[in-house]
Amino acid sequence: MDPCISDAVSVASTARQASTPSGVGIKPRNRSHDIAAALQGEWLNDDAFLTAVFNGMSITFPAGEKFFIDSVRHYRQDITDPVLQEHIRGFCGQEGFHRREHQMYNETLCAARGYDLEKLEGKLTRRLAWAQKNLSPIQNLAITVAIEHFTAVLSELLLSSDSVMNKAHPSMRELWRWHAAEEMEHKSVAFDVFLAVGGTEKLRTSVMRRATFFIGLELTRALIYILRKDGKLFDFKIWRTGLAALFGEQGAFSGGLEPYKEFYTEGFHPWQQDTQHLLTEWASEDAIEFA
Ligand SMILES: [Fe+2]
Ligand SMILES: [Fe+2]
Repeated sequence: MDPCISDAVSVASTARQASTPSGVGIKPRNRSHDIAAALQGEWLNDDAFLTAVFNGMSITFPAGEKFFIDSVRHYRQDITDPVLQEHIRGFCGQEGFHRREHQMYNETLCAARGYDLEKLEGKLTRRLAWAQKNLSPIQNLAITVAIEHFTAVLSELLLSSDSVMNKAHPSMRELWRWHAAEEMEHKSVAFDVFLAVGGTEKLRTSVMRRATFFIGLELTRALIYILRKDGKLFDFKIWRTGLAALFGEQGAFSGGLEPYKEFYTEGFHPWQQDTQHLLTEWASEDAIEFA
């Protein structure tokens, strides 16, 4: 037996319950976004590279979010805490709406720009189907916990006042920030379920190492496909300026490295980084837009 699995089973009795702060609601918002016109062009800072990076991310979401829902839902009957049960419902509802909106996003994008959606997402869909068939439920939940941490870190970057998303087409900014806010609201749900059913630190961190590799692989693959189709794969100027805009000193993703690394510390918890102020700021802006 995989030592990670036996380790997980051995501590199954150390259950822990819901830990989302009481001031944070996990509320599915059934939104639709008018993004067809924006998707025809370079919607992020009029930059082909940055636009391709975020479009590539969107491509991975529908398959990923179905996997997250399945892996959390698998354990729903084992959760006795009614609050965590309610959070699971909120989590599945939010991811369900994200999945629907990003499926529409991806189909519209591919139709507008001549990308083959099956080619773009097929490998990831098959990889996740393989995981569901061949890995244990606790391993699949650990994958979800790992990727949920990625999305929580990304959400923090996208909701911050100096976010790269402030340079986006307004409709795209609205969609990405809606998704980011809901990711932040539910950032500890899969984690809480993982602990409640006996998931261990060892499994959590070892899966994160592998998940990091595969996330990097999938996003790079999507980026290369998109840039090739756009005829910009060998435009080294956009690679240089794009990578600097993401990972340079003031890069859009640079601030994510430290929170990413915190996942590997003993006793890590998603809410040890208290990001409620970002949700409050987003909610007040959102209330004006949807008044
Ligand atoms: Fe999501
Ligand atoms: Fe999520």
